[in-house]
Amino acid sequence: RLSVVEVESVVPSTNTELKKRIVNARHNMADGDVLIAEIQTAGRGRHGRPWLAPAGGSLTLSMYWSFPDGYQSMAGLSLLVGIAVCEALKEFGIDDAQLKWPNDVYLQGKKLAGILIEVEGQIGATAHCVIGIGLNICVPDNQYDVGQPHSDLASFLGQLPDRNAVAAAVIGSLWELLPKFTQRGFEPFVPVWQALDLYADKTIVLQMGEKRFSGIDRGIDVSGALLVETADGISRFHGGEVSLRGG
Ligand code: ATP
Ligand code: BTN
Repeated sequence: RLSVVEVESVVPSTNTELKKRIVNARHNMADGDVLIAEIQTAGRGRHGRPWLAPAGGSLTLSMYWSFPDGYQSMAGLSLLVGIAVCEALKEFGIDDAQLKWPNDVYLQGKKLAGILIEVEGQIGATAHCVIGIGLNICVPDNQYDVGQPHSDLASFLGQLPDRNAVAAAVIGSLWELLPKFTQRGFEPFVPVWQALDLYADKTIVLQMGEKRFSGIDRGIDVSGALLVETADGISRFHGGEVSLRGG
């Protein structure tokens, strides 16, 4: 069947809601199905940190996608989704968005969007995946503190964009890239991602649990792991184990 795009006015978290639907056998999910919320009361980032936005201020959506070959075939997915968001932004004349490994989209050095990928169990071999995106449409800097510098489309464009058009662009871009990713894996996207890397060849600070150290961002490998140059040579980091800041 065709994918379904559903809009709800209030949900705690579109990611949580889609994960529930995956578990609940009554819901027959198809790749590309989307849930959009006008308001999230418990929007989440990584490590349980909150995604905050005034009502309607950020486009908050989750898309379902399945990976019949399991977790391994998802390597690089959060980076691929970042590329898809950057592609979508081009429809609004924005061609200088950048990506912060592994899951953030930046505009003029400030966070515009965040990506949260979750897997709801592996049923048989298939990994059932929820791709969550929060993209700021109008989150005024002086009125709303999200805990770190952020940007939004309204201030960048000088006018409020049509939220439906932004949603359509993001969803369309995911629908275009995800089948290619499923077929060919992340490898063809490595150079595309590296051209968008916010910290390419720059000094970065990595936080790994209690441990903090710095190095130089030397891009990514075919699995989407970050390559960091330190005095000991090149080390490889996977998403989920480290947080990254500019040095
Ligand atoms: P990491 O690099 O470890 O992913 P992060 O800053 O991206 O760090 P996440 O947990 O992935 O952190 O995302 C949640 C963070 O996003 C929150 O701690 C908050 O600082 C930030 N945030 C919350 N709402 C918004 C928003 N509307 N716009 C921009 N950033 C936001
Ligand atoms: C990040 O900032 O790094 C990730 C934020 C992801 C936020 C989106 S909003 C839609 C979806 N539902 C959630 O609860 N989180 C994601």
